[in-house]
Amino acid sequence: MTPNIPEPILNLLQEIGEVGGEGTYLVGGFVRDLLLKRPSLDIDIVVEEDAIRVAEAMGNRWNGTVHVHPQFGTATVTPANPNLPKIDFVTARRETYESSAALPTVAYGTITDDLCRRDFSINALAMQLDTNAFGTIVDKTGGLEDLEKRTIRVLHKRSYVDDPTRIFRACRYAGRYGFRIADSDTVLIRKALPILAKLSGERIRNEIDRILLEENAPRIVGQLAEFGAYDSIFTGWQISPSFASDFQAAQHAIVWASEHLTDEEFQPELVRWMSLFSTRTAIYQIEALSFRLVLTHQLRRLVSRTQASQHSVSLEKVTHAVFEKLGLPLSQNASIEYHNGKWCIVDADTPASEGTTYVCGEGNLYRIETPLTAYRQLSLALAALQETVKPSEIYRLLKPYPIEALVLASGSKSIATWKREKIRDYLLVLRKVQPFITGEDLIQLGKKPSRTFETQLWELFAAQLDGKISKKEEAYSRLRTLV
Ligand code: CTP
Repeated sequence: MTPNIPEPILNLLQEIGEVGGEGTYLVGGFVRDLLLKRPSLDIDIVVEEDAIRVAEAMGNRWNGTVHVHPQFGTATVTPANPNLPKIDFVTARRETYESSAALPTVAYGTITDDLCRRDFSINALAMQLDTNAFGTIVDKTGGLEDLEKRTIRVLHKRSYVDDPTRIFRACRYAGRYGFRIADSDTVLIRKALPILAKLSGERIRNEIDRILLEENAPRIVGQLAEFGAYDSIFTGWQISPSFASDFQAAQHAIVWASEHLTDEEFQPELVRWMSLFSTRTAIYQIEALSFRLVLTHQLRRLVSRTQASQHSVSLEKVTHAVFEKLGLPLSQNASIEYHNGKWCIVDADTPASEGTTYVCGEGNLYRIETPLTAYRQLSLALAALQETVKPSEIYRLLKPYPIEALVLASGSKSIATWKREKIRDYLLVLRKVQPFITGEDLIQLGKKPSRTFETQLWELFAAQLDGKISKKEEAYSRLRTLV
C-alpha cells in the first residue's frame, strides 16, 4: 500500500522506522485514508517503547521543533521544512473508563492495547514502519473487512457508553465516507443516547464544530437527528428541516465572503453555526443552547433588561434553561429580582444556608450575548424592511450585526433578493464609507460631546450616505444650518 503515499511523506515515514525500529507504527486516520485512497495529512505515530525518545531524535534529524508532554508520553515534531506536516508521537497505551462520559485513565501498553482502546475498527489499523516490515498492516479488530464492507463498527459493547462523543464520530465517518453504521452499533447508540447529556458543553461543541466542517454535514446532522441525539443534548432542541438548504446557502455565502471581503476577523465557522440554529428556533432557546455549548467561553457581554425586552427575550425562560443545563435546576418558584444594581436569583424552595442566591453581574443578568443569536435577530429585523429604504437606514439597521450574520443573510434563499442585494451593498460599500465630519472635528470646533452632538453627527453622515452631500465643504455648510 505504500505506493499511495506521496514521496516526501513516504521518506519521512521510512526515516521514522529506521530510527524507531521494531514497535514503531503509523496509526489511525492516516492508515484508514490511505486504504481508502483519500488524502490525509494527520500523521500519528505510536511507539511501543518510548515515543519521546524517537520524537527527539527525529526533531534533531529534521532540524525541527519538538514539543514534549512528558506526563502523557507524547511529543509533536514540526520539521524545519515548511512543506512537511507536523507529526504526533505517542507511546502505546491502554485506557480504562472509570465513569461514562468522563476522560479515560491511561497506562502504557502494547500496540494491541493501543489499537483496542480506539473507537471504530476502521480507525484501529496500524502500519509497521520498521525497515524489515515497512508497510505491513496490523489489523487486530477486523478493520480491513469493515473498510471493505463500508461499515462503521465499535470494538466493544461499552464503547459508546464510555465515550458518547463516539456517537457523533460514528455519524461523521458514515456521512463522510458514505458508510453505514452497523446494525449492532445502531442498537448500542440508542442505548447510550441518554449519556450524551453528561458530556460537557465544550466536548459537544467540539464535535459539532468538526461535523460542520464536513462537506456532507447535512447528512451527518440528519442521521444524528434520526437517533434523537439533539433532544438528549438539550431538551426540545430540534434541527430545522431546512438545515440542508440553509447549510448549502451558508457554504456559498462563505465562498462569496472569501472572494469579496477582506475582514480578518471573519469566522466562517460562525456562519455554519448560525445556519444550524435556523430562523425558526426561538432566540431564548438559541441563547440557552449557546450557553450550554460554550459555557462561559464566549460569553461576550450581558445586557440590560431594557435591551433584552427589546429583543423579546424572556429572562425567566433563559435563566431556567441555563441553570438546568448547568446542573443547578431552579424550582418553579425561583424569583429573579433586582437589588442594589444587581440581579439576584432566589430559589425559594432551597434553604438559604445552601447558597440559594445567584448574583449576576453589574446590574445585568439578561441576555446571554452570543453571536449565534445575531442571525435570528437580523432575520426579524429584515422582515420589516420596505423597498424604499434609504442607504442611511440600511446602514443604521445593519451596523450592529456581526459580519457573519450579514454574510449568511446575504446568501439565504428565504430572504427576498432585493434585501440580499442591499446587504451585499452594505458589506461591500456602505459600511466602509468614512464620514466627512467626525466627532474629533466637532471637538476642534469647540463643541462638547452631548446627545445633540451625536444627533448632528449622525444627520450629517446620513446625508452623506444618502448622496445628499458629496464633499467635506458641503458637510460643513450643512453643519452650520444644523447649529
Ligand atoms: N479516537 C478514539 N475515540 C475518540 C476520539 C479519537 O478512539 N473519542 C482515536 C481514533 O482511533 C482516531 C484517533 O484517536 O483515529 C485520532 O483521533 P482524531 O484525530 O479525532 O481522528 P482522525 O481519524 O484523525 O479523524 P479525522 O479524519 O476526522 O481527522
